[in-house]
Amino acid sequence: MMDLNRSVAEMMARGKGILAADESVATMSSRLANAGVAPTEDNRRAYRELLVTTPELSAGVSGVILCDETFRQRVSGGATFPRALAEAGILPGIKVDAGAKPLAGRPGETVTEGLDGLRGRLAEYAGLGARFAKWRAVIVIADGLPSWQALRANAHALARYAGLCQEAGIVPIVEPEVLMDGAHSMEQCASTTVAALMATFAELQEFGARLDGMVLKPNMVVPGKDSAELSTPDEVARATLKALYTILPEQTGGVAFLSGGQPPGRAVANLAAIRALPAPWPVTFSFGRALVDPALAAWRGEPDRIWAGQRALSQQVAACSAALTGSCAPAPDPVGLPSGLRRVVDAADVPAVKLRLVPVREKLPFRKGSGAGNGVRAWRHTHAEAARQRRDYGR
Ligand code: 13P
Repeated sequence: MMDLNRSVAEMMARGKGILAADESVATMSSRLANAGVAPTEDNRRAYRELLVTTPELSAGVSGVILCDETFRQRVSGGATFPRALAEAGILPGIKVDAGAKPLAGRPGETVTEGLDGLRGRLAEYAGLGARFAKWRAVIVIADGLPSWQALRANAHALARYAGLCQEAGIVPIVEPEVLMDGAHSMEQCASTTVAALMATFAELQEFGARLDGMVLKPNMVVPGKDSAELSTPDEVARATLKALYTILPEQTGGVAFLSGGQPPGRAVANLAAIRALPAPWPVTFSFGRALVDPALAAWRGEPDRIWAGQRALSQQVAACSAALTGSCAPAPDPVGLPSGLRRVVDAADVPAVKLRLVPVREKLPFRKGSGAGNGVRAWRHTHAEAARQRRDYGR
């Protein structure tokens, strides 16, 4: 069985991130159709082959997440996709959730399904070469939403998924994504992100998941995409890290941000600003659209334009990699950072950083009587544990 810590270290290798190419058959088909490409099984395969065979991809990509269909397909040379990735020095990953389905009794909200039979599927994926997996929970911000019930149901599923992955020697990417959809403020995104992380880490702890053997895939804290509010990369970075600092224990294996539908350039600028601030966990990207949208547009489904798609992907990967290593990072003003933090670019400085946990109870977006009290109690428990680790960490 693969060692989880070794896989996490490889996923979070300096200057590298994770390419999310795991859109479901339906989502990939509609993206192909929007780009003017016939949404056939072979075009989905050809597009993913373009991505994973991009020359020098491993210079900036440590792992690629695939969906079940691609995991079982072959590249033109005859190798299966996971084997082709492994031969290129890239970790194969697999999306194992069955998608976000309407949550009974909570109109407008979903719970991500896929736990039934997951143990067997993970064993099969491990045999096919999977080193890590992904499960995405979807949290919406709207009038009165999210409900505590939706947060808790999704967190519960994430924790059970994480436990099953770790049992199989597969690193779980735990993704509680707060969507950008809507006109909400950055402050609402921040408090909802804290709530989603709180629920998730409380359940992870409750189910005994090994935090050093997983990677969190969070959203950045940004205003809703229909909001008139503007945010600079520096503001996004501070708000995002503040939310993460509030909840994440230090031993969390890594943090790999999703792009969430932000324009590619903005996602990269925000990543650079985040990476320029100190964090006690390794930080990287796990982008989908921000990496592959330009490649799909450049390829257009034409066999003699594979080079154009691969060049576009290489450029996006290089920009993300530069954002991680600080070579394109804007220099943020440290004023306003939580006390005890200082700006670093080099990972070697990170152990000097102290976590500062702030009370969030009054900031949570719950109504009285919503049942959030249970979660707050679990969260307190998580914090007591984090404080203990902090003391150990200081020794
Ligand atoms: P985006 O970066 O396009 O949000 O996709 C990342 C992902 O894997 C969502 O689950």
